[in-house]
Amino acid sequence: MSRHSPHPHHERTQTQVSQWQHELPADKPYRILKTALNHYHNIAVSFSGAEDVVLVHMAAQIKPGVRVFTLDTGRLHPETYQFLEKVRDTYDIDLHIAFPNAQEVSALVSRKGLFSFYKEGHHECCQIRKVDPMRKILAPFDAWITGQRKDQSPGSRQEIPIVQLDSTFSTPEHPLVKFNPLANWTSEQVWLYIRSEQIPYNPLHERGFVSIGCQPCTRPILPSQHEREGRWWWETDDTHKECGLHSLNVTPS
Ligand code: ADX
Ligand code: SF4
Repeated sequence: MSRHSPHPHHERTQTQVSQWQHELPADKPYRILKTALNHYHNIAVSFSGAEDVVLVHMAAQIKPGVRVFTLDTGRLHPETYQFLEKVRDTYDIDLHIAFPNAQEVSALVSRKGLFSFYKEGHHECCQIRKVDPMRKILAPFDAWITGQRKDQSPGSRQEIPIVQLDSTFSTPEHPLVKFNPLANWTSEQVWLYIRSEQIPYNPLHERGFVSIGCQPCTRPILPSQHEREGRWWWETDDTHKECGLHSLNVTPS
């Protein structure tokens, strides 16, 4: 539970979240998404430009013109930018592209160079390019939807619920609900769905990339490697393979 939960807004929201946790079918992303989009007017899908495109596909069917956002960290692959445009052209969505604070990025790279994360770890860069801007993007929303799944990381995502009170981005006055409709789907289920529905996908997936994030911090994986081994591969501890967007994953309360 969130450290903000004693606040009455949080208690009411937590009650609703707990009810959904019991009532919603955990293995049916479409049903979860439909409940989320019907319940909240003020809600958006967060789309990373990878296989979470399945959520965009479903959400556009449920609610044409649905709000979707991607945070452009400034370090995405060219293929991801092209894919974002393909998704914008394919679906009836309101795609918003957000950016980190220019002064903060400038200060970081001027002081420490463009690849400080290889030497010092990725947390400072992720904080500036991802976590801080995400806090700003999410401030006006009552709920958001992510493509997190349990099978993405045996080390840090095993406990992901289909819906939760967001302990990272809620504030005392404003609880934020986070839906993870794909939590209980496997990678195989996601890819069967992508193929059967002929959903467009990031071409990097055809070149050995499974999990896709920023270009300097993502690499293809070898057969039998786990997908998370393609992210921040120089970090040894699994809990360091999270960027802070989903910090409940590494600091369960
Ligand atoms: S990360 O924390 O390691 O970067 P991951 O790539 O697994 O996250 O993506 C999990 C979910 O977080 C995505 O399905 C998406 O909902 C959200 N997310 C991650 N990166 C972004 C981004 N750049 N823009 C928007 N949403 C993102
Ligand atoms: Fe910076 Fe890498 Fe984190 Fe992207 S994933 S924000 S480039 S450290």
